[in-house]
Amino acid sequence: MAVPRHVAIIMDGNGRWAKKRMLPRIAGHRKGIEAARNVTRAAGDLGIEVLTLYAFSTENWRRPAEEVNDLMGLLRHFIQTDIEELAQNGVRLRIIGNYKALAPDLVALIDGAIERTAQNSRTTLVIALNYGSQAELVSVMRDVAQRARDGNLDPATIDEAMIDNLLDTHDLPPPDLLIRTSGEQRLSNFMLWQLAYAELLFVDTLWPDFGVQSLADAVADYGARERRFGGL
Ligand code: IPE
Ligand code: IPE
Ligand code: MG
Repeated sequence: MAVPRHVAIIMDGNGRWAKKRMLPRIAGHRKGIEAARNVTRAAGDLGIEVLTLYAFSTENWRRPAEEVNDLMGLLRHFIQTDIEELAQNGVRLRIIGNYKALAPDLVALIDGAIERTAQNSRTTLVIALNYGSQAELVSVMRDVAQRARDGNLDPATIDEAMIDNLLDTHDLPPPDLLIRTSGEQRLSNFMLWQLAYAELLFVDTLWPDFGVQSLADAVADYGARERRFGGL
């Protein structure tokens, strides 16, 4: 059965998971990190080459400052505690999104982790951080317009491959399977270009409850689908 090379996940439902238990939202986020850890471990075993996790969107800045701080703190903690295991398990860390705009100490931590795992090749873990697909595309368009204005680019030569090459994901295959948890059925500004032909899977499971078996089930669901890419 076909295994998706690249699985992208919109990890949603941490807040509702906590609310159901009358816990603060951060408890849901904490549990969500555990789910991310388990799913990352399982991805390699299932033969998934690239796992992308949507961790913080450009729109998530609209949340109360306290929650944003909590999320950044958890991320900082995750990188500190997990980088060693990731590195040992052949995981290469990549970031998409404007993470350079985050706190300088966090940026340094992330850059260190990227460097530390750069030679690994078993699984690529892509964390989408301060990521918004529209912002990513705007930056591509600016780049292309600037080159044309400078006389270095003939607009007639702009094609899909050129745009692909300018995206944050330029060195990654496009997602084969997109999973969104928590029952919401929307993309929330995630990989609008890259998901052009992805298979979409919406599950009701709240992200903190999404385990290794949930990922295996999703991969099996994908394997039973017929992809056509516009052909027959
Ligand atoms: C997903 O869980 C985590 C992030 C967006 C960072 P939510 O925090 O969106 O949880 P709900 O949607 O409120 O349940
Ligand atoms: C999408 O979830 C962003 C991440 C998972 C990081 P949200 O919970 O922020 O999405 P909306 O606001 O419900 O669309
Ligand atoms: Mg949500």
